[in-house]
Amino acid sequence: MNQPIMKGVAAINPPAYVKQQKLINWVADMAALTKPESIYWCDGSEEEYDRLCAEMVASGTMKKLNEAKRPNSYLACSDPSDVARVEDRTYICSAKKEDAGPTNNWMEPSEMRATLNPLFDGCMQGRTMYVVPFSMGPLGSHIAHIGVELSDSPYVAVNMRIMTRMGKAVYDVLGTDGAFVPCVHTVGAPLAAGQKDVAWPCNATKYIVHYPETREIWSYGSGYGGNALLGKKCFALRIASTMGRDQGWLAEHMLILGVESPEGKKHYIAAAFPSACGKTNFSMLIPPATFGGWKVTTIGDDIAWIKPHSDGRLYAINPEAGYFGVAPGTNEKTNFNCMASVRGNTIFTNVGLTDDGDVWWEGMTKEAPAHLIDWQGKDWSPEIAKETGRKAAHPNSRFTVAATQNPVLDAAWDDPAGVPISAFIFGGRRSTTVPLVTEARNWVEGVYMAATMGSETTAAAVGQMGVVRRDPFAMLPFTGYNVSDYFQHWLDMGKKIEASGAVQPSIYCVNWFRTDDNGKFVWPGFGDNMRVLKWMLERIEGSGKGVENIFGVTPEFSDLTWDGLDFSQQQFDTITSIDKAAWEAELKLHAELFEKLEYHLPVELEATRVALEKRLAS
Ligand code: GTP
Ligand code: SPV
Ligand code: MN
Repeated sequence: MNQPIMKGVAAINPPAYVKQQKLINWVADMAALTKPESIYWCDGSEEEYDRLCAEMVASGTMKKLNEAKRPNSYLACSDPSDVARVEDRTYICSAKKEDAGPTNNWMEPSEMRATLNPLFDGCMQGRTMYVVPFSMGPLGSHIAHIGVELSDSPYVAVNMRIMTRMGKAVYDVLGTDGAFVPCVHTVGAPLAAGQKDVAWPCNATKYIVHYPETREIWSYGSGYGGNALLGKKCFALRIASTMGRDQGWLAEHMLILGVESPEGKKHYIAAAFPSACGKTNFSMLIPPATFGGWKVTTIGDDIAWIKPHSDGRLYAINPEAGYFGVAPGTNEKTNFNCMASVRGNTIFTNVGLTDDGDVWWEGMTKEAPAHLIDWQGKDWSPEIAKETGRKAAHPNSRFTVAATQNPVLDAAWDDPAGVPISAFIFGGRRSTTVPLVTEARNWVEGVYMAATMGSETTAAAVGQMGVVRRDPFAMLPFTGYNVSDYFQHWLDMGKKIEASGAVQPSIYCVNWFRTDDNGKFVWPGFGDNMRVLKWMLERIEGSGKGVENIFGVTPEFSDLTWDGLDFSQQQFDTITSIDKAAWEAELKLHAELFEKLEYHLPVELEATRVALEKRLAS
């Protein structure tokens, strides 16, 4: 078996260790459609990674950084039009429109296939098709799922090696008939014979398409982040959330951290913040120096797969193996562990290149380098920046780095059983209105808080920045099915835990981003978020004090630990005050959201809203 199959333009030539005919046939079919010049089966080895990187350096896609400054590291700069997720080009093509729901773009599957087919026909001409096998979650774990991405981008292949368990061993798990999610990706830039390639090929037309019923992903026209690394948002959130709905588990846009008290009591917490709202930072925070003996460790920084176990509790794994993190704002003070993680073996995308062959981004050091080459390849200096407003790094510039480089990686990060979750945190980016921290009194109130969460938009997605939008569960762009059904799924999960006799995880709502009259953040954030985390743990353990307000339970000034921080009662009041008029306006937005989501909206949520409205009025 495994004879070379000639079909289309390129020989398929699967390696002998690929034992699944269905997979080989699919690759052959996709090759016949996309017509690559050659097909390359990734084995995931270091030798292969080094070779592909060297090829990209030769072709101009990447630059090798100064080996003495940033060993084994590269910088890739994208086309200026291809810098973030494209939410308005992202589709959930379920058979029925109501299954995609009002928050997703939808097209009838056959209509979408008819749209995509001509685009994919010959789209890989002149390029290599990389066959990228990957496992989301520890290889062979009962919680893990396998995907195979076909991509004409070597940048995708090397990034997938960092972000997932990618390589040859996946085929052993797949065997002759194991299931995989087929993911087809093209930059949409075929090359005619003799045509010279550009450094970052892409297409002005973009489609990020999911067929939830057949669990397929088709991505066209972009080489960037979540548009192209299909294991991440497309598979681990949009497709996986539909798998979770069908199979009784949760796929969430959540970091997972471990937090251990000086007494050695350890809890795992999962937290959902929208894109570029602090997950990576929170997942590896360093407690203030005065918090001797407290330890925070990372399980994951972006995605959690959460399943109920036989003891009734929820257990979470990080399906990823690396971090695709926001560069700007990251520095030794705000996120030391992250800076340590990216000291080497890192791919940077869209940051500045310093004259000594290292990287720089806004907020990395207090003083900017006197000169560098910005992410668009132009000369940059603090003076030029002042005159033109041009940034050295794109606001959504990123680093790709293996989780194993994180100095505070949790010992259980790779445990196929997952870790038990004691609490969920939901947090938006709100300059006004939402207080620092609130504890939900019960599961339904917690689900309500998460469902109605608002957040100011960031550079992680193409579009206007800083506009408050509803972002239920920080999953607005990532829920692969009707979001009202998703709320119901969460309510059902809560009931299931309760019925098992296990303690339901506590649910908290936080906001690190309230600003003062000058637009400055009042809360110091980052490591000081430990102060809020400690209060949550005390609440979970039963010792923490708090007072009830109309939304839930909040700490008073004296309930938080302030050692080592100069923070006044008055400042505390600024970020915890509840402004009646602002909340009346906020509740109108909740009502607007619920009107939009009326189909299948759980009655408990509307009842919670009405109760809130009454409490606010009285
Ligand atoms: P995605 O990878 O897009 O999902 O983002 P993320 O949620 O992991 O956000 P990340 O931790 O990368 O933070 C995004 C930006 O917010 C960075 O510029 C951080 O410096 C900033 N940030 C993170 N945490 C805090 C905080 O506690 N306070 C303030 N003021 N800024 C923060
Ligand atoms: C996000 O936007 O939430 C990210 C980056 O984590 S991306 O991989 O582009 O989705
Ligand atoms: Mn994210």
